[in-house]
Amino acid sequence: MSAIQIQGLRPLCGSVTVQGSKNAVLPMMAASLLAKGTTVLCRVPAIADVYAMFGILESLGCRCSLSDGTAVIDASRVEEVQIPEKFVKAMRSSVMVLGPLIARTGEAVTYYPGGCVLGKRPIDLHLSALRSLGAEIREAGGMIVASAGRLRGTRIRFGFPSVGATENAVMAAVLAQGTTVLENCAREPEITDLCGFLNAMGARISGAGSNTLTVEGASELKPCRYTPGADRICAGTYLAAAMAATGEIAVKGVEPGQLAEPLNVMRRMGAEIETDGKASGIRLRMRKRPRGIVLKTGPYPAFPTDLQSVFLAVACTADGESRLTEEIFEARFAAARMLRRFGAQIRLDDRTAAVTGRSPLTPAIVCAPDLRGGAALAVAALAADGISLIEGCEHIERGYEDICRDLGELGAEVWTIKQKFG
Ligand code: UD1
Repeated sequence: MSAIQIQGLRPLCGSVTVQGSKNAVLPMMAASLLAKGTTVLCRVPAIADVYAMFGILESLGCRCSLSDGTAVIDASRVEEVQIPEKFVKAMRSSVMVLGPLIARTGEAVTYYPGGCVLGKRPIDLHLSALRSLGAEIREAGGMIVASAGRLRGTRIRFGFPSVGATENAVMAAVLAQGTTVLENCAREPEITDLCGFLNAMGARISGAGSNTLTVEGASELKPCRYTPGADRICAGTYLAAAMAATGEIAVKGVEPGQLAEPLNVMRRMGAEIETDGKASGIRLRMRKRPRGIVLKTGPYPAFPTDLQSVFLAVACTADGESRLTEEIFEARFAAARMLRRFGAQIRLDDRTAAVTGRSPLTPAIVCAPDLRGGAALAVAALAADGISLIEGCEHIERGYEDICRDLGELGAEVWTIKQKFG
């Protein structure tokens, strides 16, 4: 278990190349089950969730490795259909394996993921989409047992544009017989990336990036080599860090269009931003304290819920009042309790956090409550007048390959500390 120490009130200066996108890579890894043979994914971050997905794929009979950012997944043989409970508990996105596993083997057994720190997080939309495609799914005693012959194309309209349910349905539909039309889909860039990957495997998906996807089922897919996009949430985190610490930084490799709404928010908060063409990067200059902000999360292209916590941290340092409303997950303010230890003034009322900013924050000893909440604490520490300690970094390691390395490249004074206990 490791902790991070951060010396605050040092303006950031430097550039960082953003890692591959966690939320694009995980469903692609699950989708590698759809093709017999060896799939190669490049720019894969060495994060805990990737290793958890390896654990699932290996338990099903695949062979996996990750070296220098290249993941090799040999799915020639899939002999098991049960996803071990420990992986379901460790990583909610284990549910992404359900669609491809049913499509490949006609069977899947898994556990109900249950609630998590973000709230209830049901999977009803995943299961009803798979049922519409012809899978028979029984739920008993926290287990989900699915069986199917060849899936059949159909028309599915999602009641809410769920990212995971859209991805699961697409991954199942690519091997179905006939055409599937998915309506009211989520439009996150990671879904577009997944469709690009599946099409590279021989799938026929059109409409990627819109809210209607049309999938012409294929009888088989071929393994391929593919490079997913950069992680827009990591990029947004580092830009938020520079807003809290002030300074001038560049994040490279990320497509600015994928961060259009967060960049609008940053500009409204006083950042000067230059974008540099498609996929080459974003430069941010922050000369003084940010201004307060009113924002609301929502499905893409609205402000992403995954950046809400780090912007809550920025709001804590802002000049004036902020209001952040969380529309996606009902319990995503776990970072607020820890941010208060930095002296932040946050009042929670149902789905809205009202913040009165102050500067500087007070250094604190805190514990990461979840992945993005942990990153938010690092952002707050950069605006604190002294050295802060962030424990519980295993949460941060689920999604950031090396947040200390990256913040260090941006000129932050940050150290990792190995802790023996805790
Ligand atoms: C994905 C991302 C996560 C991000 C989220 C929203 C991955 C691995 N994770 O999560 O980082 O925060 O999108 O952008 O890509 N819902 C239901 N029933 C369902 C499924 C979802 O009610 O069957 C609800 C959820 O409880 C939540 C909302 O829909 O309130 C959005 O969830 P969803 O878009 O499915 O998020 P995930 O795919 O879980």
